[in-house]
This record gives sequence, C-alpha cells and structure tokens, in this order.
Amino acid sequence: MRALLTKIEQASGLDRVGDRLQRAVQATLRPQRVRDLLHGVWLGHPLHPAMVQVPVGAWISTAVLDLMPGQRRAATTLCAVGTVSALPAAVAGLNDWAALARDQRRVGLVHAASNSVGLAFYAGSVAARMTGRHNLGRTLGFLGLGAASMGAYIGGHLAYKQGAQVNQSISELHRMSDGWHSLADMATLPQRQLITREVDDVSVILYRHGDEVTVMLERCPHQSGPLGEGEVQEIDGHACVVCPWHGSAFRLNGGEVVHGPSGNDQQVLPTRIVDGVLETRLP
Ligand code: FES
Repeated sequence: MRALLTKIEQASGLDRVGDRLQRAVQATLRPQRVRDLLHGVWLGHPLHPAMVQVPVGAWISTAVLDLMPGQRRAATTLCAVGTVSALPAAVAGLNDWAALARDQRRVGLVHAASNSVGLAFYAGSVAARMTGRHNLGRTLGFLGLGAASMGAYIGGHLAYKQGAQVNQSISELHRMSDGWHSLADMATLPQRQLITREVDDVSVILYRHGDEVTVMLERCPHQSGPLGEGEVQEIDGHACVVCPWHGSAFRLNGGEVVHGPSGNDQQVLPTRIVDGVLETRLP
C-alpha cells in the first residue's frame, strides 16, 4: 500500500485532470471570504478534518445498526445524515486541495475519487432503504463503507505523511534552545518593515510599530513559504504579512490567520528589550 501511494505521489498522468479540477474549484469557490470560511480561518484550525467526523461517525453507526435486528429505521436515518453531511465536508476538502503542492494534489485526487465512490454507494443505499429495499440498502452501505475507509486511509497519508494542511512551521520551535536570544539593536530597527533574523538557525521575522516589536516564525504554516519575502498589508485595520506563495495573511500583532489557504495561525514569540537590545525566547 505504501509503495502504491508513493507511485500516486509521482503519477504525473493525474495532473491533466487535477489541473482542470483545480481551476474549476478556484473559479467556483469565490469570493475569498467563502474560501476562508471553508479553510477554517475563523476557527484557527482546518475545517475539513472536523467536518468529516459527522459522515464517518454516522456511516460507521449505520453499519453497526445494520448488523442488529429491528434497527432499520434508525439505520436509514443515520445513513441519510452521513450522506447529506458528506457534501459540505467534500466542498471544504476541495477548497483545501486546490492550494496544495502538486504531489499532494495527486494523492488528494485519489482520496476524493475514493470518497466519491463511497458517497455514490451511500446515496444509492439511502434511496434503496427509503423505498423498502433494505437488504439492497444494507449491501450498498457496506460497499460505501469500504470505499470511504479507503478514502480515509489515503487522507491519512495525505495529512500525516505528506503534511497537507498540517502546520508546517510549528516544529521549528523544537530547534530553538531555551533562554533569551538577542535579535537586534532597537536603535537600528526600522519602523514598519519586515526584517529577517536567525535564532539557532530558525528564521524569524521582526516587525516594529512604534516601540512594539513583533517576532514570529518566518516559515508559513501553510506550505513553508518565506513570510520574510511577503508584503505588509493593512487588512481590517491591522497590519498583516501576506505570504508570497499562496496569499495567506497573518496579523502582525498576534499571528492570527486572517486569510487562507492556511487554516492555522502563525506562532509569535515573546519579546523583551534589555539595554536597548531586542530579545526573544520560546513561548
Ligand atoms: S505557503 Fe501557502 S500561503 Fe504561505
């Protein structure tokens, strides 16, 4: 299975379909606030993995009820709940997928195809149960569970092996040593400009506004883009750094994500000034 997934990561033949679907998703899911809603910007956490809990839970419960006598009505209800709730979860997943790297999009395409097959089986299962053909509904339900389980397995590979929508910057903290680290002489630190510095080989950005200085990790939590090369923009009255790769925006006074595709905030580090020297440490 691992070898197969590695082959899928490298399967450039999937790109024709993937590129077309990516353009279609980007053209359809507009404006930005709809994309942000689906990325989970408001939640500070990717939304898709949270939303899939509903169909997965409902479908597994359906399978359990299908193995028990006298539970047809409850099984039909749960099967329908799972099938209907899978649709918004799929839309949120497509929205995240469209901003992934190419190798991740290939695996994501197979993940989506497998789940679509599962969804089609479950839609047929609901229709069969509601028209009194419960044995057929049960069979289609088990087939759907098989396809959706395969989709979930591939989704696990996408998240945990390929790091899709996982915070890409937070592990940088593990490479920083304890204690305060000197960063810059305040007298030489310009106002309202992004400055890049290193702390134990970990790249951080500095942004000074008056006597306040924000220090945050430089690697974008979405796909490791260099925030130090990004632009500073005023968004909703707050100075934000905009990632040069896919446009995620983070507040410079706290690191909250204000625009996706990142669904995660950016880590800000504590600061202090000692004898005119800016220092930072691990949170
Ligand atoms: S790397 Fe994708 S938005 Fe920063």
